[in-house]
Amino acid sequence: MDRIVFHHDTVLSDVHLLLPNTCHLMARLNRVGQPVFISKFKILRDSQLPDATESVPISAEETLNEGVGEEVEARAKEREAIAVNEPSLDEDGDLEVMRRPGESLWERATRNKVCPIILSQSSALSDDEEEGVLEDKDNQGFGDVIKIEHTMATPLDDVGKQVWRGAFLLADYIFSQPSIFGGATVLELGAGTGLTSVVMATTATKVYCTDVGEDLLSMCHRNVTANRHLLEPLGGEIRIRQLDWLQHNLCTDTNVEFSWTKDEVADLHDNTSFIIAADICYDEDLTNGFFRTVYRLCSSFSRPCILYLSLEKRMNFTLRRMDVSCEAYDHFRHCLRQLEAMEDGRSSFMVERVPLTFPQWLQYERIEQLELWKVTSMPLQYHQGSSDSELPFSA
Ligand SMILES: C[S@@+](CC[C@H](N)C(=O)[O-])C[C@H]1O[C@@H](n2cnc3c(N)ncnc32)[C@H](O)[C@@H]1O
Repeated sequence: MDRIVFHHDTVLSDVHLLLPNTCHLMARLNRVGQPVFISKFKILRDSQLPDATESVPISAEETLNEGVGEEVEARAKEREAIAVNEPSLDEDGDLEVMRRPGESLWERATRNKVCPIILSQSSALSDDEEEGVLEDKDNQGFGDVIKIEHTMATPLDDVGKQVWRGAFLLADYIFSQPSIFGGATVLELGAGTGLTSVVMATTATKVYCTDVGEDLLSMCHRNVTANRHLLEPLGGEIRIRQLDWLQHNLCTDTNVEFSWTKDEVADLHDNTSFIIAADICYDEDLTNGFFRTVYRLCSSFSRPCILYLSLEKRMNFTLRRMDVSCEAYDHFRHCLRQLEAMEDGRSSFMVERVPLTFPQWLQYERIEQLELWKVTSMPLQYHQGSSDSELPFSA
């Protein structure tokens, strides 16, 4: 049996932690000894859409696994009984306190949040699944499910193999605003498993889905293939490519997998109108690299470009401050301010925070630490842009 490798800096996405009533069945180990899982994330259709600002009851049928319906019904009866009963007294006249049922699946299904679900766990993607020709076994309308291969509990430098809440938030926004992205060429930075690119390609014409690492990009490629059925009817296309924020140029070496062709580089510069990125600010050096990349790309694009950036503000206790702080987030906000203040005559950047009033299309916990930012870049009169050493986002 292969050994599972855990590192001291192992992190686990809450998306995978908060799975009600599911056991995690590993599909296999990947090349570097990490357990691989396959999750199906259901897309809520109009009639199922909760209001983002309201309590979101989820039907047992939608969210919970077999046998749970009975429990929900039993709990409902129990609650009804509690509601109609007058307070009762025992023989001595003492109040008999009825015990409130402990948190059950009923509570979980009705409290003011929704959880992600794994509808089923299965073994590695079958050939059919990789080809995107899965049967609709559950008769749910196969178009309602995004199927994602991912790992759990990765070291920090492999976090892209997990799905993060920011990916869901950005996906919700894309589903809510199809007319904005319809027909567009879009670049995703730090795409990880590719979930948000898949959602984007249900409306955009072309999505360059980028990240680093052959292993991760291969996983992303399998996910895109497995979800092809969602894109093909609408003609959306996803190209998975390497884009490293710590490198100045795009890789065009034909010997390297997921490298760019010269035509693609030209297409990217001429036609991109949106950049999207989910949950990519968690390390200062990477955040600097990310902002340098955004500046460089936007300054070389022929047209105005809008960047949508989702993130989760994470609190950490630091020994340095002996207090709870959110240093990665503070640094991100600092970089946003620097970007907006840039005056190099090449591009101007306007930063806005997007209110989270759009509905949820995917089931996850939309916690208050989630944020969505919009940065509009306008190309000004062309002149030589700043060199990396002149940029404020220094390493
Ligand atoms: C927390 S994950 C988010 C993944 C995905 N967007 C999501 O929300 O599920 C951060 C992503 O940034 C990527 N990343 C880290 N360093 C990078 C670099 N130097 N260049 C490009 N991407 C990088 C990681 O590989 C990973 O996919």
